[in-house]
Amino acid sequence: MAQLWGGRFTKETDRKVFAFNASIGFDRRLLPQDIQGSIAHVIMLARQGILSPTEKKQICDGLAGILRDVEEGLLDIDQEAFEDIHSFVEAKLIERIGEPGKKMHTGRSRNDQVALDMRLYTRQVVLEVDVLLKELLEGILDTMEEHIETYMPGFTHLQKAQPTTLAHHYGAYFEMFRRDRQRMSDICRRMDACPLGAGALAGTTYPLDRGYVAGLLGFAQPTRNSMDSVADRDYLIEFLAALSTVMMHLSRFCEEIILWNSNEYQFVEIDDAFSTGSSIMPQKKNPDIAELVRGKTGRVYGALMALLTTMKGLPLAYNKDMQEDKEVAFDAFDTVKDCLELFGGMLKTLRFKKERMAASAMNGFTNATDAADYLVGRGVPFRDAHGIIGRLVLYCIEKGTSIDALSLEELQGISDVFQADVYDAISLKACVERRLTLGGPGTLAMREVIAQNRAYLMQEDRD
Ligand code: ARG
Repeated sequence: MAQLWGGRFTKETDRKVFAFNASIGFDRRLLPQDIQGSIAHVIMLARQGILSPTEKKQICDGLAGILRDVEEGLLDIDQEAFEDIHSFVEAKLIERIGEPGKKMHTGRSRNDQVALDMRLYTRQVVLEVDVLLKELLEGILDTMEEHIETYMPGFTHLQKAQPTTLAHHYGAYFEMFRRDRQRMSDICRRMDACPLGAGALAGTTYPLDRGYVAGLLGFAQPTRNSMDSVADRDYLIEFLAALSTVMMHLSRFCEEIILWNSNEYQFVEIDDAFSTGSSIMPQKKNPDIAELVRGKTGRVYGALMALLTTMKGLPLAYNKDMQEDKEVAFDAFDTVKDCLELFGGMLKTLRFKKERMAASAMNGFTNATDAADYLVGRGVPFRDAHGIIGRLVLYCIEKGTSIDALSLEELQGISDVFQADVYDAISLKACVERRLTLGGPGTLAMREVIAQNRAYLMQEDRD
């Protein structure tokens, strides 16, 4: 057990205490960020005359060597001997380059160091999630373009409501994931400040150039309060909230795919590569991937609640409780990235059963609103038209038929306003095509939105 703070202590730390306190088992993934942060810190120290140019070079080369050797498998991160990744790096540096290595931590604390490492790591994941969201949006938009005239029922209360198209239905998810990307860009903007130089909590007496080191690490500015710098995990909470929202969207989409794939709906068929069988029932092909994505939503919400709860009631500034941010956040990061990737793959290979979808859109009185609108077009006030069509639907239910299957005589038996042109007016195609308000499923309205979505995906801006 090699500890950075052994000097003040007279006893060896108990094994169990050491293990309980240690974070190296999970913060080892911060190695690249830790080294990047240390190199920037050391370059700045040398620029300020706190380290000599030779010391700077020795330290930077040493750090680069440690990273390289770990990545190439030549250096093992020994979890028995070190409590966290910061101690490991410093100990290895001193072991490798001797005296200059002991100067690396000048003007720094592990508190601002870990605050920086976590920010750097999170910033990278925000960008990775954004790329995955963009890829998902591209897949969704391709399907929209292909299925402008693929009719399907639209639901409210999971009851058939009005006919729509697959393009329109997918368009709703396009909006959700687009908003998710906006959240990513908001988070990037708000977390764009560098905590390095905050020290343990109260800054430092060394003449550090915080603006310079912030610039080296790609931050717009240094943070403005050193206590907040080491105590703040807001950006992580915001990101976990945004990831929870991404998962909520994925989960809703999964739920629909599971329904559509069910024996009752049969709107889609999930590719064999994204389904599994049953050990007992030979006929089964289960939508496991969709179910797992839906299920994993719980653990991402869990991470958000865990961190909110950990942070609640913490006095300023750093407290060891905050070490608990990492496991839950890393688990959520990995989960969301996996889910986005797998879900995207499943979506790309989904097969649509267009005839089934159209047939389903035709029954269940999805054209009842349009039949009422037909009467309105011929001078009947809407409320009266609603009543007439209600009686018509009841008549159809009793006869076991649909509105468009009734003869003109039967229709006129309920209202003499009906004429032969009613059949065209309430056909599936007409019901969809006439919905031309912006945002609706009619072909022209849909094409306009698709063009806007395509233009959005071509631009760099995430908003
Ligand atoms: N492993 C610690 C964490 O993740 C690093 C910071 C330790 N700072 C301290 N004062 N003990 O929070």
